[in-house]
Order: sequence, then C-alpha cells, then structure tokens
Amino acid sequence: MTSNPLYVALDTPDLERALMLARSLSAAVGGIKLGLEFLSAHGPDGLRRLIDEGLPVFADVKFHDIPNTVAGAARALSGLGVGIFNVHASGGVAMMRAAKEATLGTAVPAKVLAVTVLTSLGPQELARVGQGMKVEEQVVRLAALAQEAGLDGVVCSPREIAAVRNACGSNFLIVTPGIRPKGAELGDQVRVMTPGEAVQAGADILVIGRPLTAAKDPVAVARSLLLEIGVGSS
Ligand code: C5P
Repeated sequence: MTSNPLYVALDTPDLERALMLARSLSAAVGGIKLGLEFLSAHGPDGLRRLIDEGLPVFADVKFHDIPNTVAGAARALSGLGVGIFNVHASGGVAMMRAAKEATLGTAVPAKVLAVTVLTSLGPQELARVGQGMKVEEQVVRLAALAQEAGLDGVVCSPREIAAVRNACGSNFLIVTPGIRPKGAELGDQVRVMTPGEAVQAGADILVIGRPLTAAKDPVAVARSLLLEIGVGSS
C-alpha cells in the first residue's frame, strides 16, 4: 500500500471546526469523510468549502431511493467534485447501476460505494426486518450485487473485510470504519480493529473519527497510525 489510506470523519455540525481540522490534518490524512450530521447542517455550500481545501472528500450520504431519484442526486454530488459517495446496496442493482452511470457524465466521476449491512443491526434486528441470514452472508451477497452493478467498492465493518475481499477480488475498494489504535477509547464502537489489522485483512480506506478529532495532537496520532500501517505521510 503506497497512498495514504486514512480518511478522517469530521462528525460535527460546526463548519469552522471542520475546516480547522481539515487544514491541520491536510498533510497527514488521505481524505475527509463528511456524514449526514455535517451535510444536513451545511449542504452543498459546506461541502464545497471542504472540497476547496484540496483533500478528496467522501460524502457518506447512504442514498436509498428509486433509481431515477438516486441518479439525479448522484449526478449533483459528483458534479460538485465529491471524490466518493455511497448508496445502500439493499436499494437493488438497478438503483446502484443508475447511481454509477449518472456520475459518468460529470467532469470527474466520483467513486460509488455500497453500504452493505449497517453495523448497528445485529442478527435479531436483521431477522425482524426480514433478513434472517447470517450477517456475514448478507454482507457478501450485497457486496457481490454492488460489484455486478459496476460500483467501485463497499463500506463494511472490520469483521467482514476478509470475506468481502475473498468474494470480490483485489480490484474492489473496501472502506471500513470501526478503527481504533491499540489501547484507545472504543466509544460506541464494538467490533473494532487496529489500523494494521484492518489493512492486513484487506481494507483500502480506513475511516477514523474520534481517535483523531478528539486527540490533543491529531497530526501526531495520524502519523503514528501511518507508521503502524507502514505508509509514509507526505
Ligand atoms: O469516531 P469514529 O472513529 O467511531 O467514527 C467512525 C465514522 O464512521 C463515523 O462517521 C461513523 O458514522 C461512521 N460509520 C461507522 N459505522 C458504520 C458506518 C459508518 O462508524 N457502519
């Protein structure tokens, strides 16, 4: 692995704080992840402000709607200059394909990832919504559908990285949250891996929030994570 796989999750509704963190981490991370919290507060203007900082931006929007609507939203996001965004794989192959195809008409097509099974859903909750199979089986099934639809990869928990890599091959992006350096606070994350373990299992991009954003010296933490993975930061 040569490029920087760390994407910092800027989970804040505070635009100035997000800009400050992006600036201070710009030489130590490979990209920024913005989720619904930031995007609902600041919309396309806030997104543009972060994109203008120069790092690749992953918009964690998790679209799930009919193909025509998702295609329109995908075209708009890709047109703004977002580097990566995601859709729910459970929206179906036609929807995923429509999202990907919509990006192709924009200046720099965004990469499109599929969300497989939300990590907040355990086996019991999955069974209640009619998905009674094992979580890993469902994740691999949805990852295969995403690949069939022409998507660039998936977001999955550290626990499913190896199974997805095995099923989908090397030319498929695997992005994983739930990353914690050794000895770090888990917060509300349960199924975690260290950055080294996740890369070893086959992850391409590691989404890390609080271990960086809540640190006294986020740049120093990022550099120590890169050292653990064996990537030199620029
Ligand atoms: O602070 P922390 O490192 O836990 O942040 C992880 C980021 O990844 C957050 O933005 C969270 O919303 C996101 N995420 C996650 N688990 C998922 C999907 C996204 O933690 N299954």
